[in-house]
Amino acid sequence: MTGGAGFVGSHIAAALLESGARVRVIDDLSTGHRENLDEIGGSIDFIEGSLADEGALRRALEDVELVFHEAAIPSVPRSVADPRATHVACVDATFELLLAAKERGVRRVIYAASSSAYGDQPVLPKVEEMRPDPLSPYAVAKLVGEYYCRVFTRVYGLETLALRYFNVFGPRQDPTSQYSGVISRFIAALLMGETPVIFGDGEQSRDFTYVANVARANLNAAETTQGIGQVINVANGERTTLNELLEILKRLTGRADAQADYREPRAGDVRDSQADNRLAKEALNYQTLVGLEEGLQRTIDWWKQSRYAQPNA
Ligand SMILES: NC(=O)c1ccc[n+]([C@@H]2O[C@H](COP(=O)([O-])OP(=O)(O)OC[C@H]3O[C@@H](n4cnc5c(N)ncnc54)[C@H](O)[C@@H]3O)[C@@H](O)[C@H]2O)c1
Repeated sequence: MTGGAGFVGSHIAAALLESGARVRVIDDLSTGHRENLDEIGGSIDFIEGSLADEGALRRALEDVELVFHEAAIPSVPRSVADPRATHVACVDATFELLLAAKERGVRRVIYAASSSAYGDQPVLPKVEEMRPDPLSPYAVAKLVGEYYCRVFTRVYGLETLALRYFNVFGPRQDPTSQYSGVISRFIAALLMGETPVIFGDGEQSRDFTYVANVARANLNAAETTQGIGQVINVANGERTTLNELLEILKRLTGRADAQADYREPRAGDVRDSQADNRLAKEALNYQTLVGLEEGLQRTIDWWKQSRYAQPNA
């Protein structure tokens, strides 16, 4: 798999190990951490290298049947600040991976796509047939990856599935940068006695999805006979505003007193997001194994004993 030292990738790797599979990871550690793989234990063949490095990519694909492609620079604001880096890490890397996978006889590539492809479509929930409307360089780059997957299935017969994740959260999500996911930033702020920052009025909504549900959907995508060459939403199918999310987290962390610091909305962010997950239920047997509140509690518990809770982490 690619990007296995990252947040979602490390959970897919853990689920694969549990299923008895042999796992090889290629990751350049640009946003991921070796510690994420140490934390899950087990024996992983780790290649520290970039998908942009032909030799490393070739080694990564040797005798591989299935690829879970998680590597990316996964951030809307980072893509606004540095669109070229996002293009290289998402578009170029996905293209090179698909080409190499086809040449090396890989059976199936499961691609981490993004709900950002929908943009600000007024209709909710978002259904796969809707016309994409990307609002940021990140959304475009992830969407191009989907199209390449589809075309590699159609033209070359390489099996692909593009799983459009909606906001994923859980243990090992890096809370340390301004580009981090909102849940990890809120938890870090609340547990460190700091003020959580909300960009905009907090009434924007997201379909927050616990990472174990996403990992399971990926493993099911490896086996399914449906959805090949297609895009499939992967999400709970519910909608929570950032203000509501913060209220739940304040309760779970015992920080009822905390007030948010509301700042200017960020360029490229969508207003509302909620998935129609009927196709995922049908094609991937998607189930919400862990719901929002239980997932938030598990994330808080993990955070408290993680390296991020240590001073100077
Ligand atoms: N987290 C979410 O809410 C979310 C939502 C939608 C889609 N996604 C997609 O899911 C995937 C995983 O996201 P994440 O949140 O785990 O991010 P992450 O930053 O934790 O993981 C990405 C991993 O890819 C690695 N990487 C980046 N460029 C690379 C390259 N050129 N070669 C090799 N490795 C490289 C990074 O070091 C990192 O380990 C991404 O493709 C992202 O676009 C995530």
